[in-house]
Amino acid sequence: MTRGADPVVMGNASGGAVVQGAAKARVIEPAVVVLGRVAARDPEEERADMVRGLLRRPPRIDSRYFYDDRGSELFEAITRLPEYYQTRTEEAILARIADEVVESTGARELVELGSGAGRKVRLLLDAMRRRGALDACVMLDINETFLRASVEALTEQYPEAAVRGVVGDFHHDLEAVGTGGRRLFIFLAGTIGNLYPRQLARFLRQVRAVLGPGDAFLVGLDLVKDAARLEAAYNDRAGVTAEFNRNILRVLNRRFATAFEVEAFGHVAFYDPVRAWIEMRLRASRPTAASLGEGREILFAAGDEIRTEISRKFSRDSFTAELGGTGLGLAAWYSDPERLFASALLRPVPEGGPA
Ligand SMILES: C[S@@+](CC[C@H](N)C(=O)[O-])C[C@H]1O[C@@H](n2cnc3c(N)ncnc32)[C@H](O)[C@@H]1O
Repeated sequence: MTRGADPVVMGNASGGAVVQGAAKARVIEPAVVVLGRVAARDPEEERADMVRGLLRRPPRIDSRYFYDDRGSELFEAITRLPEYYQTRTEEAILARIADEVVESTGARELVELGSGAGRKVRLLLDAMRRRGALDACVMLDINETFLRASVEALTEQYPEAAVRGVVGDFHHDLEAVGTGGRRLFIFLAGTIGNLYPRQLARFLRQVRAVLGPGDAFLVGLDLVKDAARLEAAYNDRAGVTAEFNRNILRVLNRRFATAFEVEAFGHVAFYDPVRAWIEMRLRASRPTAASLGEGREILFAAGDEIRTEISRKFSRDSFTAELGGTGLGLAAWYSDPERLFASALLRPVPEGGPA
């Protein structure tokens, strides 16, 4: 792998690597940083979190557990499904607005949160390149395998940029992306809709806290629409979303020895118009049990359900209302002709400003 003329070492959390070039030696930042919190999070604390979720009504599993390697591959397959309008619609919006966003923000560095396979980011990187303003790119994701692959691919494709990856959790590790100026943060795919209202407010305040006055934040939002269209997107005919949903139990089995009987659960996804969110659940088709550790079990009767994800749907007004008190304000709103999806461009509001 090369970056410009100098060799680059994929590093780790242990610090910078000294790279011997033909004529010089220089210290580079590691290309991928694995944060201690993610690599060595206290397993007992993590188990306690997981158990607390399962003991709620309805039982819940945190959606970050979807994204082991298999889950990330399944998500990529979902993005190609005919029913899943979100990805292609967001791509079309980004392709249309990329130059305008880069121009209006003056961005020289791109930071993607929850970067996944890192495909859409190229639309913005290309626009930065066209302006001759592509200095750096930081990708943050919880899945190390996908992160390393995308950092490697972007390093090759954009040799003029310093590309870095942070294996981290966007709820806890935002400060790890460092500081800068003229940065464009992006959070795509409607992932922000997976956050519960209180989590969302906290997340937006945390993002605001790491933004400099010249930085901006572009957020992808799935919009409220006809329930049938929404429900079709989460109940695809090929059954990929169902497989993605059930895979979360395999992840728990591996991580916590929960011994869920994966085949005893079926996929459920429905739109709740009052909360304006899609809810994904797993429903037990027969009596079954899982282990919570220390000899404790959780029992499920046929028909019992576990909530595995919410995906909130917004309107311009409902999203703007979420910005209140976060220190972020809406600078621009872009959508597609059918109003299926939106990209909201947020800017920090100066102290004492309206938001
Ligand atoms: C819906 S996918 C979106 C991927 C990509 N940005 C796109 O637009 O297609 C969500 C991504 O966020 C990552 N993710 C989920 N929860 C996370 C968390 N708490 N912290 C960091 N990354 C997370 C997943 O690994 C996955 O890559």
